[in-house]
Amino acid sequence: MWKIELLIYSLVIVGTSCSSVNNKKFPDSFLLGTATAAYQIEGAWNEDGKGENIWDRTCHSDPTRIFNNENADIACDSYHKYKEDVALLKDLGVSVYRFSISWSRILPTGYLNEINQLGINYYKNLISELKANNIEPLVTIFHWDLPQPLQDIGGFPNDRIIRRYVEYARVVFDNFGDDVKYWITFNEPKQTCRGGYAALGDAPFINSSGIGEYLCTHNLLKAHAETYHMYNKEFRDKQNGHIGITIDTVWAEPDSKDKADVEAADRLIQFTYGWYAHPVTHGDYPEVMKQFVGERSAKQGFSESRLPKFSKAEIHGMKNTVDFLGLNYYTSVMAKHKNDEEKTAIDWDQDSEVDTYFKPEWPSTASSWLKIVPWGMRKILNWVNKNYEGLPIIVTENGVSENGTTLEDDVRIDYYRDHLSGVRDALDDGVNVIGYTAWSMMDNFEWTRGYSEKFGLYSVDFNDPERKRTPKKSVSFFKQFLATRCL
Ligand code: NOJ
Repeated sequence: MWKIELLIYSLVIVGTSCSSVNNKKFPDSFLLGTATAAYQIEGAWNEDGKGENIWDRTCHSDPTRIFNNENADIACDSYHKYKEDVALLKDLGVSVYRFSISWSRILPTGYLNEINQLGINYYKNLISELKANNIEPLVTIFHWDLPQPLQDIGGFPNDRIIRRYVEYARVVFDNFGDDVKYWITFNEPKQTCRGGYAALGDAPFINSSGIGEYLCTHNLLKAHAETYHMYNKEFRDKQNGHIGITIDTVWAEPDSKDKADVEAADRLIQFTYGWYAHPVTHGDYPEVMKQFVGERSAKQGFSESRLPKFSKAEIHGMKNTVDFLGLNYYTSVMAKHKNDEEKTAIDWDQDSEVDTYFKPEWPSTASSWLKIVPWGMRKILNWVNKNYEGLPIIVTENGVSENGTTLEDDVRIDYYRDHLSGVRDALDDGVNVIGYTAWSMMDNFEWTRGYSEKFGLYSVDFNDPERKRTPKKSVSFFKQFLATRCL
């Protein structure tokens, strides 16, 4: 009898009472929730004084860039339906909700000349609704929607953006900082910089031939670091929050055991995650980036490397400017050292000299770039933990897309269960991962893919003026998971 009691006792205490997928519970302190972004859900694009941003401009004046000429003028209408959304989050049982602030809603021109009180009120209301429901806000200050007037003077490649961003962040801390403990300065800066100024994947759709993405990054990183110091100086004592940056990367699995392939795989992650994470932890770009961009620039006949250099003082100011790292992980690639004879489907980054491909057996999704590779989650978490010496990590995005409006999203249930299991295993590996927010709470405007690729736990009827939300099957899975912290 005592043996059975001991077994029950150890199941409860050690937490090995979960399912066969992963028999370990998530700790009570682990932040679990869902994520969204302002432009993708709010709508109300020109209401209550909001200014125009670069995505409004693209959708309105260059609509063929977007699937089906769609736009986010109304999107999920969360500007009007935020109370309903918080009620859904409450019902789901989340402990944290990640959302972003629209710069043009707060500063309609992008500058301090006009501060829009109605915009501020919207986020104040949202935050107090969340707090009233015991949901911790995790707030992204910038999620791609740059005010158009700032793009008109060059956007991120112009170093004046640094001052503008810091001013904007100060208004944000000043107004919301007493109630927000987790801040993300930038979401997926690689998409802002490479997508926006090189690869023609994101607004403002400028291709500046291998220069713009590096200038954009340089300024964006300085804006991040200055914001961190400004927070320390002006707000930290009173507000006591944590500041991070969210960086996206694939896991890159070497194609073979050959040294060249093993190095190529690691290099690819340095060119995606390290490009941003290395400066904000160690003060400078990864050595391997300096080497490869430098050599390639020389071969191309440039007089110096296209990768800009930080001065000694800048390195000093850049170093240790995060309290946690955000990680967006969706998928993996196989990676091998570039062989000019062989052309592969995707060239993530030409300067890295890495060829990549997807294994044919990896299941496809509605997004061409997203194959389902759950084991990559544990590996990338270990990589980040090892490279940045145990800094706290929050998985700020992870999710899967489907076409159509099915509510029977078993694919999503499997995806979340298997990836969360990877997160739980990483905890056992000793990785300092402290939270996870699933992308996304509801179907929303998927940038150039319009409403065609759906990532939501809740379905949204975009033909309905009320934008009715309906739970998919994955909501039941998530509810159960959040209630038990067991998979
Ligand atoms: C990353 C972005 O942060 C988010 O805005 C986007 O919708 C998801 N990935 C899915 O592509």
